[in-house]
Amino acid sequence: MTSLPSPASMTAIVTGGTGAIGTEICRQLAAAGLRVVALGHPSEAERIPQWQRALSEAGCDVGVELADLGDAEAAAGAMRAALDRLGKADVLVNAAGITRDARFVKMTLDQWRAVLASNLDSVFHCTKAVFADMCARGFGRIVNIASVNGQRGQFGQTNYAAAKAGMHGFTMALAQEGARFGVTVNTVSPGYVRTPMTAAIKPEVLQGIVAQIPVGRMAEPAEIARVVAFLCAPESGYITGANIAVNGGLYMSA
Ligand code: CAA
Repeated sequence: MTSLPSPASMTAIVTGGTGAIGTEICRQLAAAGLRVVALGHPSEAERIPQWQRALSEAGCDVGVELADLGDAEAAAGAMRAALDRLGKADVLVNAAGITRDARFVKMTLDQWRAVLASNLDSVFHCTKAVFADMCARGFGRIVNIASVNGQRGQFGQTNYAAAKAGMHGFTMALAQEGARFGVTVNTVSPGYVRTPMTAAIKPEVLQGIVAQIPVGRMAEPAEIARVVAFLCAPESGYITGANIAVNGGLYMSA
């Protein structure tokens, strides 16, 4: 085993880093000593200064770049800007994602494309910007944030479930390409987490879903982030191509 980097020398880019789960991932990586840049969506511009202030008061200075990561050129530009700030990326967490839920018979092509672009194309664009360099430097940690619904499906989410299942296919294939270069690629599949995304589900529908969760409640974003931080640690080099479920028992598989 070659010598491992110290967290204090490491850098991370977190897509969707200004979202609920992404914020906790930024916070925990920064707390572990990494320098972190978050990528967010341009529609969030107004709230970013306050977001950065809140993190800074908690002792975490996180840079921010805004772009529509479903767009190849915009994503490449944001990744370049993040790399300019950091010098390199040891860690990439692909956590950018949206929902456009509808029964399949009602789902429009726009809803399909929006979710596939933001949730899956973004993974291609952002990983493209760092993977070759990680391999050349002999170290990298890529974590893709998928979903329990990419594993078990969900009524009303053909677009989202397809994108999230696709992320794990991407993970398994890229893990094989990165393995001999010290680059691990893993998926974390959260269940229902307390975020604005789940808050948008009709209360009576959400209630029915929570009733099926063996742990009896939704997850907190920090409970997802701690698994991501674990996978990003220098010592986690023997875990690759894995899909770690953090779903309160909602879906169990061997
Ligand atoms: N199983 C079977 N039937 C269902 C159903 C289910 N799980 N959910 C809804 N239906 C049925 C309703 O009973 C209703 O049937 P009738 O017409 O016979 O009464 C019909 O679907 C209603 O469908 P509509 O097209 O009229 O649409 P709606 O406005 O009721 O909404 C929906 C449908 C968007 C799918 C809504 O039910 C919903 O939001 N479901 C939850 C989807 C979900 O879990 N999204 C997760 C978002 S969070 C996330 O994605 C994060 C993560 O990773 C977990």
